Amino acid sequence: MPTTLSAQDPAAAAQPRAAHQQDRQRQAGYAARLDGVSKSFGRPGAQQQVLDGISLDVAPGEFVTLLGASGCGKSTLLNLVADLESPTDGTIEVPGGRPALMFQEHALFPWLTAGRNIELALRMRGVAKAERRQEAERLLELVRLTGAYGKRVHELSGGMRQRVALARALAQDSQLLLMDEPFAALDAITRDVLHEELTRVWAETDVSVLFVTHNVREAVRLAERVVLLSSRPGRIAREWRVDIPQPRRIEDAEVSRLSVEITEELRGEIRRHGQH
Ligand SMILES: Nc1ncnc2c1ncn2[C@@H]1O[C@H](COP(=O)(O)OP(=O)(O)OP(=O)(O)O)[C@@H](O)[C@H]1O
Ligand SMILES: [Mg+2]
Repeated sequence: MPTTLSAQDPAAAAQPRAAHQQDRQRQAGYAARLDGVSKSFGRPGAQQQVLDGISLDVAPGEFVTLLGASGCGKSTLLNLVADLESPTDGTIEVPGGRPALMFQEHALFPWLTAGRNIELALRMRGVAKAERRQEAERLLELVRLTGAYGKRVHELSGGMRQRVALARALAQDSQLLLMDEPFAALDAITRDVLHEELTRVWAETDVSVLFVTHNVREAVRLAERVVLLSSRPGRIAREWRVDIPQPRRIEDAEVSRLSVEITEELRGEIRRHGQH
């Protein structure tokens, strides 16, 4: 909200800070490290354990999808990495600074244009006013929305809104992008196109991505590594390296084959916990 943005204008610091964060991440050797992370909700005596003993590294520049049944704790895990929640047990390190977030709902400010939404993130990062317009245009071009700068949110389709949301997340210049089912509300064809765009943007930047989904094919389509969570409590059940070369398509034979294998495991997890 505008009032929280206040004084950050001494702008020139933006680039050095990003470089410094990148150094810290490189030295650490990971973009995020979760070590024995558990999370419970509720009052003492009436607690629900949602996550149990999660240990996971995301390497610098790596694309990891986190897959699991509804309610298994995927969003909770992302919220912990984003420091929106605290773990009950275990530690979380994100050496590259505050991650950028992208959710199923675009969360753009409807009273601002696409360009201004992006500029807001640039301003919060301390980018000088004179540079913001050009940088916002560059980011819109990166997500293939050249010319949308002056469009208001209600003038954009669902897919276009998610592109603006992606551009805004990238405007934060974070080393780590946390995505919680960002394409779940889109139709299959738009989702397909956005998978392509995200893969391309990821390849063109050095950002690491932790992407949550319950869609197995989406997980395999996008990731270098798929991590499957069990339910009640969420634990890491299994993980797969995905060596299929990019660009992949969701209907590729190899994507299908691995998706079938992972779906079997996911079904097993769901059966074990009596969910649908
Ligand atoms: N702030 C909270 N307070 C209490 N319980 C919570 C809170 N956040 C999540 N939970 C509970 O934790 C469990 C996991 O929720 P979470 O949203 O992480 O699941 P999910 O895997 O993201 O599910 P979905 O695929 O439906 O989005 C649920 O039982 C939920 O009710
Ligand atoms: Mg969720």
